[in-house]
Amino acid sequence: MATGLPSAAQLIRTARHICVLTGAGISAESGIPTFRDALTGLWERFRPEELATPEAFNRNPRRVWDWYESRRESIRRAEPNPGHRALAALAGRVPRLTLVTQNVDGLHQRAGSEGVIEYHGNILRDRCTVEQTVVQRAGASGDDLPRCSSCGALVRPDVVWFGEAIPAAAMRLADAAALDCDLFLSIGTSSLVYPAAGLAETALRRGATVIEINPQPTDLSDAAAVVLRGPAGVMLPGVLDAL
Ligand code: OAD
Repeated sequence: MATGLPSAAQLIRTARHICVLTGAGISAESGIPTFRDALTGLWERFRPEELATPEAFNRNPRRVWDWYESRRESIRRAEPNPGHRALAALAGRVPRLTLVTQNVDGLHQRAGSEGVIEYHGNILRDRCTVEQTVVQRAGASGDDLPRCSSCGALVRPDVVWFGEAIPAAAMRLADAAALDCDLFLSIGTSSLVYPAAGLAETALRRGATVIEINPQPTDLSDAAAVVLRGPAGVMLPGVLDAL
């Protein structure tokens, strides 16, 4: 396993198709806590598993919406960081780059990345709980819970909750990129949550080379040809400069 920007830059320069998987770590420098950080403030007594599930929503939609509204608020205040921006710029410097993100914050798109595959959805969109379509919300109803403007059912955040399936289109596109790529960049993810964590394994089985960018070691580190052991906001601009 090599370390260092020159090795990573050399692999990126010669890659035919780069598949990138990002996790919460790439948004950490935008001030958005990762999942492995304890929930802070008002929500510190809850674990995501207690809030981001269909059961939690059915049991107490108000509490789940309050948590999501507070997360939406902090995401709206956040800005893409140099890591997001370098990744958007990298796409214009290589023949083909497919970006798959586990993040629901939309910061890749705000940084200029296109064709982002949102593997776990997007927190800023509402989805009708009956029609299962992305909808504009009607005004709040009597219980001041947001409802669908076309059928009046409750709306929910358009994200994947624990125990739910990955959106079919995202799964298909991400699998195709992992199967076809010759270089896989794993950035800011603990590589613990499947099926997202399986994408790197798919790429490795097909003979792709893996680069990991993460200040901490993960289960994927030993399989990586190059590890950039540091923050994405530093390492990605560094890779871009070294190209
Ligand atoms: P985690 O919180 O599990 O992992 C974040 C990773 O980012 C860790 O490995 C950190 O070491 C690393 N990290 C922290 N700061 C970083 C930085 N500045 N630059 C680069 N890396 C940094 O987040 P995810 O791996 O994204 O699923 O979690 C995967 C999924 O687990 C999430 O999408 C969510 C959660 O359950 C759903 O919501 C369905």
